[in-house]
Amino acid sequence: MKDKIESFVKEINHFSIEDLQSLEKFRIQYLGTKGLLKDLFGELKSVPNEDKKDVGQLLNGLRSLAEEKFNSHKETLDSPAKSSATIDTSRPGENSEVGSRHPLMMVRSEIIEIFSRIGYSVSEGPEMEDDWHNFSALNFPPEHPARDMQDTFFIDNDGKEEMALRTHTSSVQVRVMENQKPPIRTISPGRVFRNEAISARAHCFFHQVEGLYIDKKVSFADLKQTLLYFAQEMFGEKAQIRLRPSYFPFTEPSAEVDVSCSICNSKGCNVCKYTGWLEILGCGMVDPAVLESCGIDSKEYSGFAFGMGIERITQLKYKVNDLRLYSENDVRFLKQFTGGI
Ligand code: PHE
Repeated sequence: MKDKIESFVKEINHFSIEDLQSLEKFRIQYLGTKGLLKDLFGELKSVPNEDKKDVGQLLNGLRSLAEEKFNSHKETLDSPAKSSATIDTSRPGENSEVGSRHPLMMVRSEIIEIFSRIGYSVSEGPEMEDDWHNFSALNFPPEHPARDMQDTFFIDNDGKEEMALRTHTSSVQVRVMENQKPPIRTISPGRVFRNEAISARAHCFFHQVEGLYIDKKVSFADLKQTLLYFAQEMFGEKAQIRLRPSYFPFTEPSAEVDVSCSICNSKGCNVCKYTGWLEILGCGMVDPAVLESCGIDSKEYSGFAFGMGIERITQLKYKVNDLRLYSENDVRFLKQFTGGI
């Protein structure tokens, strides 16, 4: 009996079911009321008692085998769409779009990386600021035009102290100076806001990275060397810088910094307006009055500060000429930066 069952196992395994007809044939032959399994279960009566249990188990196994084979073929034959024969495995798969980093964020990371190599930490602060951190501690005289409604977005604070959206991240540096003891070497990347009409060359918000270095005997030469290092890391070894005297309330002396135009190798082109130079940042020695406002002894310490717009650096690096592109989220623009880190 056991051998017989084993030979039926093989028979069932080899039975080929290709269509509904052969499926029906299989059912009648093995599972039907006059089928093989019915007969075999009938024969169980004549099996000696001591073998009944084993044979019974084998028969149950045989029945499950036949039932499973029947059910699985029935399922595929009943729903032909799902059967493997109708799936076109050569069809190309569907592409899933891969996002990319925003160009401003790529350049931001690069700037942070360049300064972190010479020991600068990253500090951040609130976008909504009080007058002290954005203006007063930075030596802005009360009548300074930057405080004017035309430049600053003021925020009504329910009759409490008036707040503003920060106009630069120098406000973060005030917070750092108030809370840390020199030596301080930090950069503050962040979004800043100015009340300007939106055009290709101006926007009501943009991104800055400002830097601050305070220690004993920090000199203007240190500032120049740091900025030259930055320009060469960012724009290539051949980059040169030049400093032009300027004015900021919080630095004295102050300068604006140009980098040699890498687009035309300083020969003159429409980007550098045929001067060979491009303005990239403002800088200067921290005004002693600012150090004192933040609780740092200006007789013991000196320092320098600089600030640049990330949009400006990105514009020079990737030749993007319209500031509005950065915030419009047009995928045709953003897609050009896939592959960036
Ligand atoms: N805070 C200045 C600005 O927003 C930039 C700057 C920073 C200039 C530090 C000098 C020193 O324009």
